[in-house]
Amino acid sequence: MITSRRNEKLRLVRKLLRSRKHREETGLFAVEGEDLVDAALGEGIEPVELLVAGETVRAELLAEVSTLGHAPRVIAVFRASDLPRGSCDVVVGLWRLSDPGNVGAILRTADAFGAAVALSEGCADPLGPRAARASAGAVFRIPLLGWEALPERQVALVAHGGAALRDVEFEPPLGLLLGSERSGLPDELVARSEAATIELPGKAESLNVAAAAAIALYELERRRGTSLFSPS
Ligand SMILES: C[S@@+](CC[C@H](N)C(=O)[O-])C[C@H]1O[C@@H](n2cnc3c(N)ncnc32)[C@H](O)[C@@H]1O
Repeated sequence: MITSRRNEKLRLVRKLLRSRKHREETGLFAVEGEDLVDAALGEGIEPVELLVAGETVRAELLAEVSTLGHAPRVIAVFRASDLPRGSCDVVVGLWRLSDPGNVGAILRTADAFGAAVALSEGCADPLGPRAARASAGAVFRIPLLGWEALPERQVALVAHGGAALRDVEFEPPLGLLLGSERSGLPDELVARSEAATIELPGKAESLNVAAAAAIALYELERRRGTSLFSPS
């Protein structure tokens, strides 16, 4: 039982939950709560460390290192290299999405529709605590790729000026590009892609980026009528 806040494992967890640099340097990341740990175990991904309140560590010490408002029952450390590899024939490309909640929500949606996610530089870390939580475990189930892994054919989702989404041809392999919360996609990326816009009959100027991802993936799936997933 860990009873000291100076314990090495607690210090590791504290740093992994708070520092992207530390996650990248160690190749490790930490998740909080039983649901996320169960999601990993369900995929056969074993933790490097598993801290359980009242069993392997004093509950108040676990609460101190946690980023949650409440004390978690478990915190576990995983290796990034144990996450899924391969790809899917639909890849959602996230361009400089800075909000970890949006990144996590899109991972969850991609998981729901059998797509992979590619992240550009400047995106929030999908292995940070907020994104992992918002992903509801999808972080353990879908391939996380670099931007260069996007399929050649790409549809750029733009808030204004693209062809109506319902008129765009969706034939996988396909990249679905989504732009940053503040400034969208850069012009040069849009120019190299087919631009598509979800028409908005109401007064909102644009959709939240995670909502746009969900609508586009639903439309794609609706037309295919089959699972998008094709592991390589
Ligand atoms: C909040 S929006 C960015 C708004 C930004 N002012 C702009 O004009 O691009 C973030 C991203 O969500 C997606 N998005 C939002 N509304 C959309 C819509 N109506 N149709 C297609 N994509 C949309 C786009 O990928 C966009 O880059």
